[in-house]
Amino acid sequence: MAVEIHLRRHDRIGEIAPELYGHFAEHLGRCIYGGVWVGDDDRVSTTDGIREDTLELLQDLNMPVLRWPGGCFADDYHWEDGVGPREERPVRRNLHWAQGRAEVFQEPNDFGTDEFVRLCDALGTEPYFAANVGTGDPQETLDWAEYCNYDGDTTLAERRRENDRTGTGESGYGVKYWGVGNENWGCGGRMSPERYAEEFRQHANYLRTFSGSMSARDMDLVAVGHINDDWNRRFLDQLERGVGWVDGAPHNLLDHLAVHRYYSAGDDTDFDDGQYYKLLARSERVAEDIDDAKAALDEFAPRSDIGVVVDEWGVWHPQAISENGLEQANTVRDALSAASVFDDFHERADVVTMANIAQTVNVLQCLVQTNEEAAWATPTYEVFDLYRPHMGQTALDTVVETDAHTVDAGGPGRASEGERGRDEHEVDYVSASASEGEESIYATFSNRDRDRARDVAVTLDADATVEDAGVLFANREPDEHSTPDETFETEGVDVEKTGDGEFVVEAPSSSVVGISLGL
Ligand code: AHR
Repeated sequence: MAVEIHLRRHDRIGEIAPELYGHFAEHLGRCIYGGVWVGDDDRVSTTDGIREDTLELLQDLNMPVLRWPGGCFADDYHWEDGVGPREERPVRRNLHWAQGRAEVFQEPNDFGTDEFVRLCDALGTEPYFAANVGTGDPQETLDWAEYCNYDGDTTLAERRRENDRTGTGESGYGVKYWGVGNENWGCGGRMSPERYAEEFRQHANYLRTFSGSMSARDMDLVAVGHINDDWNRRFLDQLERGVGWVDGAPHNLLDHLAVHRYYSAGDDTDFDDGQYYKLLARSERVAEDIDDAKAALDEFAPRSDIGVVVDEWGVWHPQAISENGLEQANTVRDALSAASVFDDFHERADVVTMANIAQTVNVLQCLVQTNEEAAWATPTYEVFDLYRPHMGQTALDTVVETDAHTVDAGGPGRASEGERGRDEHEVDYVSASASEGEESIYATFSNRDRDRARDVAVTLDADATVEDAGVLFANREPDEHSTPDETFETEGVDVEKTGDGEFVVEAPSSSVVGISLGL
């Protein structure tokens, strides 16, 4: 069947927040220690302890936002352990994760707030902190905000100025995004939604006061939501009790509601045809999670503009376990799933305000992998790079006429989600999205058919010229994965203009295509 993609310029969804291309870096395995921070280890070049090879790869992606320090780690992290002279910082156990060298569950606190802000400055990215609700309290969170953002003469603000070696923190680091906890329904304290609502309300109340009276720069507050819809409803219901509604939201306390979604099928590099499609089907649960969270917001905060953020998402294969620092091979199949997750985000550009893939370096569906000598890009990195032009453009309704592969996507999800029974799912062979910028349109699509190349016709209701076109993973197998010597790059692809606003591309099996059209 010929596949057709119609780009409907008159049906605009909304601006694609650049923050949808955000990242997440936790004190877990070799993400921070080894992957980003090597301190005085001189086996690789560093700037101020940060690996330059990792930095250069990430700088090329224009990363908009980076979430830190966890994850589960965040709800047992005390930020004051990680500031001041390094030799005086305490070493703590890491309750959840082996770090750096395998099987060492310890946190040296060499990398803390000031190092993280320096990393963000070097990347030109917005920091996003996850505050400790599990073992911390509102005072600790408020102190952290004061340390980071206060432009006055308090002791905490002076401490920042002493510890900030770059001078960028003179008037404050201006940290915009503040997550109030992480997965507090699970590793973050196993709270009920009602209990979390009380905790959130207290933290958010003080952070809001801070934002209003002490800092010129606004802070965005992110609440912990869940893919278990009952949590979202009970949390929002409880949050509203006693505080009332302002502008259609519970006392205007939150800006974003966060959900997390991980998925897998088969092993990282060993999967059959059924598992290939099953993983793609399961990645589409991200879209269901967003829709569920939005439905809860519509019901409980009807006139608000609270956004949904997906601040952890990606593939989590059985090979990634705590003892190996959640490392797994990163394949073309994983990257294909990321492409269609972005298509789903774009389709919901009016709802999703941020997304953060888990995790940036070495862990889970990372973008960069490292060893003691080098850093290299994964196939998922290449998808981020190919999709980058969408950032900040206006998402267009994109109608795809394609055949599909039927697969049973059921079976166990993560424990937090519970078992799913048989779940018949149609995986469209072609997934696509498009956006419009100034005098140009950018269209991306993936041919997820494992066996066949497909002719894909792209149409729009205006004449246009092809400015640029590239394809990823042509002539590669879905189980191919990145190694120091095996990387993946975008190649040129022919686009035939068949009429006014009509183009045809032959998309190889298991490939991703990006086309830029001048208007
Ligand atoms: O990304 C790994 C872990 O997955 C995070 O620490 C936690 O938030 C989630 O369960």
